[in-house]
Amino acid sequence: MLKQNPFLITDYVSPDFFCNRHSERQNIISALDNGRNLTLLSIRRLGKTGLIKHVFYQLKGRKNTRLLYIDIISTQNIDDFIKLFSNAILADEKDHANFLKKIQSLISGIKGKLVFDPTSGMPEVEINYNSKSEREHSLEKIFNYLAAQKEKYIIAFDEFQQITEYPQKNMEAILRTHIQHQHKDQFIFSGSNKHLLISIFSDYGRPFYQSSDILELQRLKTGEYAKFIVGHFNKNHKEIDENLVKEYIEYFDNHTFYIQYFFNRLFAMAYKKFRDTEFRICIDAILREKEGVFYTYRNLLTTAQFALLKSIAKEKELARPNSKEFLQKYNFTASSVNRTLKALIDKEMVYQENTKYKVYDVFLSKWLEKLN
Ligand SMILES: Nc1ncnc2c1ncn2[C@@H]1O[C@H](COP(=O)(O)OP(=O)(O)OP(=O)(O)O)[C@@H](O)[C@H]1O
Ligand SMILES: [Mg+2]
Repeated sequence: MLKQNPFLITDYVSPDFFCNRHSERQNIISALDNGRNLTLLSIRRLGKTGLIKHVFYQLKGRKNTRLLYIDIISTQNIDDFIKLFSNAILADEKDHANFLKKIQSLISGIKGKLVFDPTSGMPEVEINYNSKSEREHSLEKIFNYLAAQKEKYIIAFDEFQQITEYPQKNMEAILRTHIQHQHKDQFIFSGSNKHLLISIFSDYGRPFYQSSDILELQRLKTGEYAKFIVGHFNKNHKEIDENLVKEYIEYFDNHTFYIQYFFNRLFAMAYKKFRDTEFRICIDAILREKEGVFYTYRNLLTTAQFALLKSIAKEKELARPNSKEFLQKYNFTASSVNRTLKALIDKEMVYQENTKYKVYDVFLSKWLEKLN
């Protein structure tokens, strides 16, 4: 039988394949148990979604508790939100007693229709609203439905900043009102747009002001991550040098997804011993495969944007984009650097962390570093 690769790069499976996050998990559960909502934020691909699933894994099976994970990245308006939300309730209810009878009130409340997805055969809600009051009323009905259940609902809205993209500008206020009255239930909000999320929850005058704890997820520490990795290699009778693992974790800037991806690929290689040569073969193969996509980025960016991106990669992190030294070294002018940097941040090619700028995609950064 083919052994499962222990380095997951898609969904969460179980604590065995999840490195640490003990204190984060406890902090989240403690907040939820003590009536506090929680906002989880970090740069992309650091492990927010994984951590939510990790928390849910531990809470699963708790008496009188229902867990809903709702990723709202695909929603573009309140209608999409209502549909996703009610479908999540439906999917959760499906395996429980009196399913149809129970959700009847929800479906009629939101003026929806129950349909069956032709491919999955899953029941789904269909809605069609004509007015603002209709959709706001429906949202209220969903929360009324939750309030009427005896179980405590723990609801995670992933990519929560998406609500600010809706054309209905009062979504924040409406949601806040409902959530505030949801005494029995608890909410996790999560997302990677730090500025936006912090401003939703910390700007005086915004509806969600101080309504939730904020947990900013940090990078996993090199030592603990290395132990996790070496452990999985050894368990599968593969020999690997711990110091080299540490070196590579730091080479990938302790950025979870890129480390998971690299070690997934390394693990899949048909060696028994993993030394410097094997590590190098692996990273070279990854960068070579991604080269096609990286060249497309070059075509999509302006010459100035690509040049700045490359220079940030070469610097590894850029602390002072306007310093004379940096401008001279790469032949930029201060005014163009500011403009171009803003464009790269808007495109999520670059992010700012503790006043330093970095290329978001770690593999792209490594590839750029090697270009002339
Ligand atoms: N502690 C961990 N141990 C092992 N793998 C992890 C850990 N945290 C996250 N991962 C894995 O790393 C990858 C990226 O994590 P995840 O998708 O949770 O990040 P994210 O912060 O939600 O990203 P995004 O902002 O893009 O949604 C996933 O494949 C996930 O399974
Ligand atoms: Mg995520």
